[in-house]
Amino acid sequence: MARKSADINAMELSARKAARKLLRDFNEVEHLQVSRKGPADFVTQADLTCEATLREELSRLRPEYGFITEEGENVPAKDGEHYWVIDPLDGTTNFLHGLPHFAISIAIKTGKEITAGLVLDPVKDEMFWAEKGGGAYVNTRRLRVSSRTRMADSIFATGIPFMGKKDHGRFLKELERIMEVSAGVRRYGAASLDLCYVAAARYDGFWERDLQEWDIAAGIIIAREAGALVSQIDGGEKMLEKGDILASNPGVNSAMMEIFRELRLGR
Ligand code: IPD
Ligand code: CA
Ligand code: CA
Repeated sequence: MARKSADINAMELSARKAARKLLRDFNEVEHLQVSRKGPADFVTQADLTCEATLREELSRLRPEYGFITEEGENVPAKDGEHYWVIDPLDGTTNFLHGLPHFAISIAIKTGKEITAGLVLDPVKDEMFWAEKGGGAYVNTRRLRVSSRTRMADSIFATGIPFMGKKDHGRFLKELERIMEVSAGVRRYGAASLDLCYVAAARYDGFWERDLQEWDIAAGIIIAREAGALVSQIDGGEKMLEKGDILASNPGVNSAMMEIFRELRLGR
């Protein structure tokens, strides 16, 4: 049975409180879809409200921790060491379009290291969580990456760059190579959940570029604690700083890496 630490309990309490509001707002968005004005401003507000709730709850429970978040100002840690890394709504575009796939993502960064992560999908009521050395879970179930070793049997998730993002051409080449050798590629639109789905053996691998620390911090530790190999696309370790990531089960990792290496070499 999964034992939750006090930090995980603090994250869960805060995330569940924020999720209740987010779900109410999501139901509202479904109505706003058909209005002329559209739901865009409303969604921006939902995002901010969610972050405000998380900040309020987490600073009440852990006044000594700092904040690194998508929507607000960073706050230095009073203890000089612990930070909440938060994306209050990962999958905003899905949310805005009434697509039921988005999450609240919270990680704890201790010094430079991510030591805990929690990703809550309020629609499916799935809470993914992990702490360093303690394994990864969805709700109370232990997670383990898939055991597939053949690319031909494997499915992959990615993020397709959109307007305002760079390197569309490079992405198309990468996609083509993975398409040619795999059982398929998915683009669900929430990077935090993509990583959790690798942890849950739903995807065999995931890659994306140009992400932010709060998109991936929690997902990285959840994937690693479930046995995934997680690195930059070229194998480096600076995912949080550089924003590119490759996560997969150990069985297909070298095949994925090789595809990206060949492309770098222009082959
Ligand atoms: C986005 C999602 C998406 C990814 C984008 C991110 P947001 O986060 O994680 O999957 O492809 O690059 O910006 O904006 O919905 O928090
Ligand atoms: Ca995000
Ligand atoms: Ca966001």
